[in-house]
Amino acid sequence: MVASIPAPGQAHWSSKAAFVLAAVGSAVGLGNLWRFPAEAGANGGGAFVLIYIICVALIGAPLLLAETLIGRHGQRSTVASAALMARQSNASSAWASLAVVGMIANYLILTFYSVVAGWVLYFIWTSGSDVLRTMAAGQPFAGAYANLSVEQVRQQMPDLFSDPVKMSIAHFVFAATTTFVVARGVKGGIEVAATWLMPAFFVLLLGITIYAGISGDFSAAVAFLFTPDFARALEPQVLNSALGQAFFSLSLGGGAMIAYGAYASRDTNLGQTSGMISAADTGVAIIAGLAIFPIVFSVGLTPDAGPTLMFQTLPAAFHSMPAGALVALAFFVLALFAALTSSVSLLEISTAYFVERLRLSRGVVASLLGASFFLIGMVSVLSFNVWADHRPLAFLPGFENANWFDAFDGVTGRILLPLSGLITAVFIGWIADRKLVDDETGLQRSPLLPLWRFLIAWLCPIAVFLILLFGLFPQLIR
Ligand code: PFF
Repeated sequence: MVASIPAPGQAHWSSKAAFVLAAVGSAVGLGNLWRFPAEAGANGGGAFVLIYIICVALIGAPLLLAETLIGRHGQRSTVASAALMARQSNASSAWASLAVVGMIANYLILTFYSVVAGWVLYFIWTSGSDVLRTMAAGQPFAGAYANLSVEQVRQQMPDLFSDPVKMSIAHFVFAATTTFVVARGVKGGIEVAATWLMPAFFVLLLGITIYAGISGDFSAAVAFLFTPDFARALEPQVLNSALGQAFFSLSLGGGAMIAYGAYASRDTNLGQTSGMISAADTGVAIIAGLAIFPIVFSVGLTPDAGPTLMFQTLPAAFHSMPAGALVALAFFVLALFAALTSSVSLLEISTAYFVERLRLSRGVVASLLGASFFLIGMVSVLSFNVWADHRPLAFLPGFENANWFDAFDGVTGRILLPLSGLITAVFIGWIADRKLVDDETGLQRSPLLPLWRFLIAWLCPIAVFLILLFGLFPQLIR
């Protein structure tokens, strides 16, 4: 029956490797380089890392399989794929709401993800001009921003925040690039971007990590990341942040993995690829931690600088490093590659949906969505300066101090993604036709199948329900 339904896109990745690279490209992004070290630093290092790995293995990887199999089975947009599976399981098509909630969440994530990626672009600009300056001065191995004091280096981020024009230009350039790649489609755009940028990303990241290992305080970083304080690991705040980070980092909940699964060929073993994608994403997060923390410790900075770690702490550290100017540029270029292969997956979801619904061309749909997410993202840009005092969701607990940017981040990460993940787990674990689901997993003859079934039907819904609860009522864990 499935084969007789024409798939609207008919597009496929050209190989299994291309699918894995694109999915890893979606998963690996600012979540690994910017959010993971910040969360690990703020939540006790080793305790967070331990819980994070457990969350990825027991909740993230099983959900990743659930999402990719919905997509591969349906071979259409996330909403249509979920609706098709519901129909074939004699269940209400209201179950497709999982994908609708996810699509809205990912569109909203894109609005502020592009703003943060814009900061990366800005730092490529400043560190790039710095490299040109050091080259012209005949000192290619100088530290970053050697003509500035450390205070001035740290001041770059607040200065950028107070300048809405610079921030909007950077946000615009990133939004336009994302739109261009998605408009070109799966093979011509997304796959080309992922197959070139991801390997380049890995090489650059390894280079920086080796450099950090040699010139930074590697043993302090290893001790920080891998010595868990078990009392801390059981704090609700740590559990909650680790679960949320697993969702964000593996691109779960929003349907990105349903969208990419839709282009996977029938002979791709999704059980196996889900394991590979989860392992690669986690490996990159840990390697990113091993690149960042040795540098932070070697110059005596604290690891808990939070979201400013990547844009304030690291540039200050590059300042006092030999060849810091080159390392800074390499690091921000790497972050840009990672951000771009993630942002295209965020835009792909709504693009595929409207192409299917409105029967318009990809280029038109992607451009309209691109223009609209750029405009909504302007609200986040302004929340750092002109509208810095606005507290749009002050009436919601946990959002009292949230500006517009925090509100977009909080509503999507703490509410919408877990909500859609919860519906996905219940749908796949309890509602969808068992045989149909099992046949898509590639685990039919493996002892992993009953384990996966248990995790998706029991552990995932319960754990995700808890994140959602704590996301909505943070006072419960205080
Ligand atoms: N996983 C991406 C990151 O770690 O940066 C962010 C992301 C991409 C989240 C795609 C959700 C998504 F659908």
